Amino acid sequence: MSSIRNIVILTGAGISAESGIRTFRASDGLWEDHRIEDVATPEGFAANPDLVHRFYDARRAGALAARPNAAHLALARLEKAWQGGFLLVTQNVDDLHERAGSEALIHMHGALNSAWCGACDARHRWVETLIERPACPSCGKPSLRPDIVWFGEMPYRMEDIYEALNDCDLFVSIGTSGAVYPAAGFVRAAREVGAQCLELNLERSAGSAWFHETRLGSAGEVVPEWVEEVLR
Ligand code: OAD
Repeated sequence: MSSIRNIVILTGAGISAESGIRTFRASDGLWEDHRIEDVATPEGFAANPDLVHRFYDARRAGALAARPNAAHLALARLEKAWQGGFLLVTQNVDDLHERAGSEALIHMHGALNSAWCGACDARHRWVETLIERPACPSCGKPSLRPDIVWFGEMPYRMEDIYEALNDCDLFVSIGTSGAVYPAAGFVRAAREVGAQCLELNLERSAGSAWFHETRLGSAGEVVPEWVEEVLR
């Protein structure tokens, strides 16, 4: 690992699976029970806000009750020990990375513990339900929505993410199916600048061929193993 200075890590739902949070595309995943267009698009929210609030209120309560697992903790350990550049980009909307201790972290698809006001644009930390249409603490209007990036909306902090990718020597993708862009394209951006690309996942992802190496297994096992290897 001596030639590696800057690391970018991308995580997806698979890293939180062992914390009891359901993934999206598994046979028992969230998208089996819910249509993406109903609960994860601005049009779905406009058509049936109660349905959307119920969906994210349940996800928020589930995330609050969950605990970080060995994979989240290992990534936080790596960040603390790593001397070079480090950025963790997650597609997950739970807060298990930050509760494990990660700091250089971007929630590109938003966060369950944040509410965004459609009237005044303010964001507030939020751990309660939204279905009762609570007043926005900034403007008083009952216009809060989950601060989640829905399909058709722009993921957060893309400039910062590409800046880190353009400068990385190692890109690691963990627990993501590679089905959703732009995150699914990060591996190609990393390869273009000559970074080593490693995939840690239960099964090969859609973009598996772009990685130099794939290690299959559960995140709770393969991530701590890999981190120990890097820090050895
Ligand atoms: P998916 O549900 O699409 O994929 C989860 C991946 O994790 C799969 O490749 C699984 O094989 C793998 N996996 C499951 N359990 C695992 C475990 N214990 N250890 C390691 N890997 C495991 O979830 P994402 O790729 O995160 O976006 O989905 C990407 C985006 O699609 C989400 O952020 C969400 C969704 O629609 C929005 O809602 C905007």
